[in-house]
Amino acid sequence: MVAVEVLENKFFHLHNDRISYLFYVMENGQLGHLYYGAFLGELTKEDFRYMLLRESKSAGTVKYSEALTLGDRAQEYPVYGSSDFREGAIEVMDGEDYLYLDFKFDSYAIEDQKPYDLEMPLSASTENVKVLKVRLKDSDHKLTLTQTYAIFDDVSAIVRSSELTNDGDRSVQISKIMSGALELPDANYELWHLCGAWLKEDHVKKQNLAPGHLSFGSLRGATSPQHNPFAALVEKGAGLDNGVVYASNLIYSGNFITSINVNEWNQTRIYTGINPDHFSWLLEPGESFKTPEAVLFHTKDGINGLMKETHAFVLNHIIPPKWQNKVRPIVLNNWEATYFDFDDRKLLELAEKAKEIGIECFAVDDGWFGHRDDDRTSLGNWTVDERKFPNGISAFAKKIHEMGLKFGMWFEPEMVSPDTKLYADHPEWVVGHPYERRSVGRGQYVLDFADPQVVDAIYQQMKAIIEETGLDYIKWDMNRNITEAYSNYLHEKKRPQGEFFHRYILGVYSLYAKILSDFPEIFIEGCASGGGRYDLGIMCYSPMIWPSDDSDAVERLDIMSGAMLAYPLAVFSNHVSACPNDQVRRSTPLEMRHNVCDFGALGYELDITKLSDGELAAIKANIAEYKKQRELILFGRFKRLLPFDENEVSWCVTNDSQSLVGFYRKLAQPNTSIFDYLKLPFADENKRYLVDKKHQVKGRWLKNNGLLLPYQFNGANADTAGLIGDFQSARISLEELN
Ligand code: GLA
Repeated sequence: MVAVEVLENKFFHLHNDRISYLFYVMENGQLGHLYYGAFLGELTKEDFRYMLLRESKSAGTVKYSEALTLGDRAQEYPVYGSSDFREGAIEVMDGEDYLYLDFKFDSYAIEDQKPYDLEMPLSASTENVKVLKVRLKDSDHKLTLTQTYAIFDDVSAIVRSSELTNDGDRSVQISKIMSGALELPDANYELWHLCGAWLKEDHVKKQNLAPGHLSFGSLRGATSPQHNPFAALVEKGAGLDNGVVYASNLIYSGNFITSINVNEWNQTRIYTGINPDHFSWLLEPGESFKTPEAVLFHTKDGINGLMKETHAFVLNHIIPPKWQNKVRPIVLNNWEATYFDFDDRKLLELAEKAKEIGIECFAVDDGWFGHRDDDRTSLGNWTVDERKFPNGISAFAKKIHEMGLKFGMWFEPEMVSPDTKLYADHPEWVVGHPYERRSVGRGQYVLDFADPQVVDAIYQQMKAIIEETGLDYIKWDMNRNITEAYSNYLHEKKRPQGEFFHRYILGVYSLYAKILSDFPEIFIEGCASGGGRYDLGIMCYSPMIWPSDDSDAVERLDIMSGAMLAYPLAVFSNHVSACPNDQVRRSTPLEMRHNVCDFGALGYELDITKLSDGELAAIKANIAEYKKQRELILFGRFKRLLPFDENEVSWCVTNDSQSLVGFYRKLAQPNTSIFDYLKLPFADENKRYLVDKKHQVKGRWLKNNGLLLPYQFNGANADTAGLIGDFQSARISLEELN
């Protein structure tokens, strides 16, 4: 059930059967926020009147009008400058001057559709969705602000976006336009957000809210591994399965900001949107500007409750419909197996072995084009390197296909190396001022994707390769951030350079759109030096993203633990790699690497021609087992079984009758208890379970006492007991018996 109810043209109630979101037209005509939380049932005018019973702060405030100060009001889309001294959600300039905006309710419309759109990443559904568009007008400045709200029947989330239209006859500049805001009456929350760096993305950082202003974001041209746009406000005392959590995310891949303000009365305001730094948008008469969508989640069921919502949202409303219930192919990627040092013979050897052990797709990573023997050259020259493929790329692709494997290739479409013809022919296509110095990153420059001609030129090159090879799979990488953000194209078009970052990312989306409309079968794996663009924007095109260049199983536990707060297992591309690991030189047992990578879209990234027969047999057996369980893993309900910050990590996925538990112990501890159990709160008390296809166990035992964990004491005879020391792990299957 999903509905938008409107009373007296003034009170708005968006709800499904789990959440209610309420706002109203305030006495000054602006939109006031009333409530976001658990479903309130049917509401009458009397209910709304009761909710409005409140005093207005008088001491120390400035009044908007006689009895109203906006300083204490929860607002839908707050504006700075008239009695609210916190930063607002929107700022518009007329030349050098700020406009003091005053948007008043005008009208609304409700729609029942939210179509999937390749042009701009959006949440989508063709049924069981309501979209409410509220039009507000600032008549002094001749501006219309449309606030759009969407609610789906199957997730506790409100999707918001804003659109500004210039109805006047002079142009204005937008210097800030957030996607949406949420006001909460108190500040009794801990902020959880996902931060890190290359090789250590998405670690959960927690801090208490306190009066003042706190924000994080990106000015790198991509969402970044430093800060993911996701933020959760976790009620103090909330646990894995209880307590209120609000969370926000942004369906966007460029510069963003998420800001939280707690005022003197402990009211909390969170907003998110395009980062206003280095942003300005020229709005000519008659033009409109649309923000990306923000998503606001609510649960009262703790961290696992939050993940239920965020995961369902991505699986049902973000991922391209074609991939919503489809398993991802098991890939062998040659990057960590060969780096740049390969030729077609070596690759065919790898592919043949891959086929033997059950792999489904062979992906050639970096190094197949131009004369790219290292990472300083050839980007932008997407023609095959004939030294490495003397028979051409289509003959190679044919061989891969004949083996019964899908074929994938790596591209870094947004970049150019200085030694290419593309760079020599079109220096004006490179981001940066023609007469000023430019910074280099990984030996490469960024192409001006704000310019549709540049996007098209790259598309033509990619199209040729896709057609020549019958390509099934693209790994789309992006390995440097943007500096000296100047676009020659925008200069020529007389548009402000402040538009660059947003137009750049729209250009990236347009290339995705071109590829996916012309080759709808193609599967695109996202990547940005690992998780540098791990966001809902990219997921609208890429059903799976490489979350980190760190393939170490132990580090991946932390990365996944964080990222999974916001994104489901189906979008994680997890590759088993060699030991010692190439990034951190850690050696972990193959079993541990499998037990981590199996939670997600499994793949491999090591030289399998160098493995022992025993290792190959173990991989083959794992792949066979994974194939039986992957629907459960990718699309089942995911839960953490142990809290964060521990030496031990445990999670599980469940569907109607099956569960799979993953348990990981990073460092062994000597001489611990022999009663090592893991409680399964989800176990049905009235059922029995078949554990690991061997033991019949009562649900009540699993729930109240737990699942027996691997015995970890490493005593004198540890070897003979088969114990492994650090990096223990277990993957335990459970089947419900009637
Ligand atoms: C980036 C990616 C890696 C690999 C290399 C190739 O670092 O994240 O997975 O593709 O580029 O250069």
